[in-house]
Amino acid sequence: MSLFRLDASILPATSASRSLADLVEAEWTASHPDSIVTRRDLAADPVPATVWADAVTSKFVAEDQRSAQQNEARALATTVADELIDADALLFAVPLYNYGVSQHFKTWFDLAYTDPRIDPEGTALNGKPATLVTVLGGNYAPGTPKEGWDHSTGWLRRVLEDVWGLDLRVVQRPFTLVGVNPAMDAFTDVANELKDEAEKSARVYGQELAATRGTKVA
Ligand SMILES: Cc1cc2nc3c(=O)[nH]c(=O)nc-3n(C[C@H](O)[C@H](O)[C@H](O)COP(=O)(O)O)c2cc1C
Repeated sequence: MSLFRLDASILPATSASRSLADLVEAEWTASHPDSIVTRRDLAADPVPATVWADAVTSKFVAEDQRSAQQNEARALATTVADELIDADALLFAVPLYNYGVSQHFKTWFDLAYTDPRIDPEGTALNGKPATLVTVLGGNYAPGTPKEGWDHSTGWLRRVLEDVWGLDLRVVQRPFTLVGVNPAMDAFTDVANELKDEAEKSARVYGQELAATRGTKVA
């Protein structure tokens, strides 16, 4: 059994998404102590922004006409896709940045999606169990003043669940900046409740992820 874990926090030392993903991973490891955990840390080792275009344009060029950059981009796309396809279960930890999806995650996703085993039908990943942990400094829930400003969580769900066909569970923890930004102190109680809820969900989803038995498709 093997787990693939991706982290996208640019501040790993204080990362709320990492802490939640650690809870998920701990459940996995408790059930599969000898399991391989393949890690991709997009903050420490980001996919270069130019790679996606090189991978895409390489498809329109005869093999012997491809540039060195295009060949390198294709090789990285294969590696990134292999990591997903070879794992029995997937764990993604992705914060909200600037009201949208982490640019590191988007660049990584776009590159993986150039791989023919994943694009265009998502067949190689269809039904693979996955947990997405996502954290937000603020709170964009229905009824809040900035309802609708979280343009990350919806997109992440869309592409992981609907485009790639993963069997996805989502843990979301809003209000991580409460306790960090004094202007948000009024929300301390609700933030603590949301943190507890997220931690409970992370443990439950970690157990569910661990309960998977060799659902590797390819
Ligand atoms: C550069 C930057 C931009 C951010 N933009 C937003 C934002 O638009 N909305 C929000 O609610 N939180 C925002 N945050 C707060 C993060 O979502 C929050 O701190 C989260 O906990 C970060 O993930 P991590 O704790 O795993 O590092 C931002 C944080 C940083 C560092």
